[in-house]
Amino acid sequence: MSKKRVLSGVQPTGNLHLGNYLGAIRNWVEGQSQYDNYLFIADLHAITVPQEPADLAANSYTLAALYLACGLDLNNSTIFIQSHVSAHSELTWLLNCITPLNWLEDMIQFKEKALKQGENVNVGLLDYPVLMASDILLYKPDKVPVGEDQKQHLELTRDIVNRFNHLFAKPDQPVLKLPEPMIRKEGARVMSLTDGTKKMSKSDPSEMSRINLLDSPDEITRKIKRCKTDAIRGLEFDNPERPESNNLLTLYMLLSGKTKQEVATECQDMGWGQFKPLFTDTVIAALKPIQDKYQAVMDDKGYLESVLRHGKHKAEAIANQTLAEVKAAMGYSVPL
Ligand code: TYM
Repeated sequence: MSKKRVLSGVQPTGNLHLGNYLGAIRNWVEGQSQYDNYLFIADLHAITVPQEPADLAANSYTLAALYLACGLDLNNSTIFIQSHVSAHSELTWLLNCITPLNWLEDMIQFKEKALKQGENVNVGLLDYPVLMASDILLYKPDKVPVGEDQKQHLELTRDIVNRFNHLFAKPDQPVLKLPEPMIRKEGARVMSLTDGTKKMSKSDPSEMSRINLLDSPDEITRKIKRCKTDAIRGLEFDNPERPESNNLLTLYMLLSGKTKQEVATECQDMGWGQFKPLFTDTVIAALKPIQDKYQAVMDDKGYLESVLRHGKHKAEAIANQTLAEVKAAMGYSVPL
């Protein structure tokens, strides 16, 4: 029996932080041998906010190197750049024309980002979830591993599938496949270091709010030294009054590999002054192998390019097939 398929992606904007790693990439890596994985760099999504043309391609390569550094294995995983497979853009147009505007206006991320951007809201920002639906549907994946913040976009993707199949497919012969989100409980929502009630985010103006995968030991030490805590002695999970305690203990648990119970017992009587150095050492040690591997991959540009060239060809074969099925169902002629 062939393996089930997984598809997911990350935008090449800013540095990858612990939220991206623990909410998404680490889960791709851990589950990769059970699945046939298609993991891409979402560079078309990136331009929904202004990007410097001189940096765009380099950022995609950096992110691809980080995917490899985090442990993606090419025997199980295909890595490619979204803009190299033009079917993503083409399917987006076709799906745009069956997606009601108000579905997009209801998206929480759109509302939040539009609010931040004021007068500068572009159509791409609104349309972003249809592009994301296209990314997914082209590959007919069984599972889409993401962090909690992408859940609503996956629900929209499922609504688009149902609508498309209802309009253009026979009930027993669906053209598009319903994907399942795969959201782990722990790490699905890593919070900011400067405010335990806010998500850790690449777009937070303060660098102190996040730990990036490529931060040096000195930067990690400085950020943890200054991160927000509370005035209570003894650390605990799951107390809604103590979001920072829950967030930092969860990070410590995930990066040390200890169980929740072990961490709860170890830290129940600790003060912050004792916890912070322990946590700092754990973060530095967990990121060291990723940083070393990243350097090795970046030093071999030829290898990275060959990975992405191979990924493009493999991804394109599947994506073009689905696109042809969609166009046929909608009534387009096949070019002669
Ligand atoms: P992006 O680039 O914002 O984030 C990449 C992944 O990281 C997860 N994530 C988090 N998880 C836990 N805690 C956090 N603080 C945190 N911040 C981010 C995200 O949930 C995501 O899984 N639209 C997507 C990229 C995308 C995509 C797709 C994903 C485009 N097409 C198709 C899956 C399938 C995005 O902007 O992710």
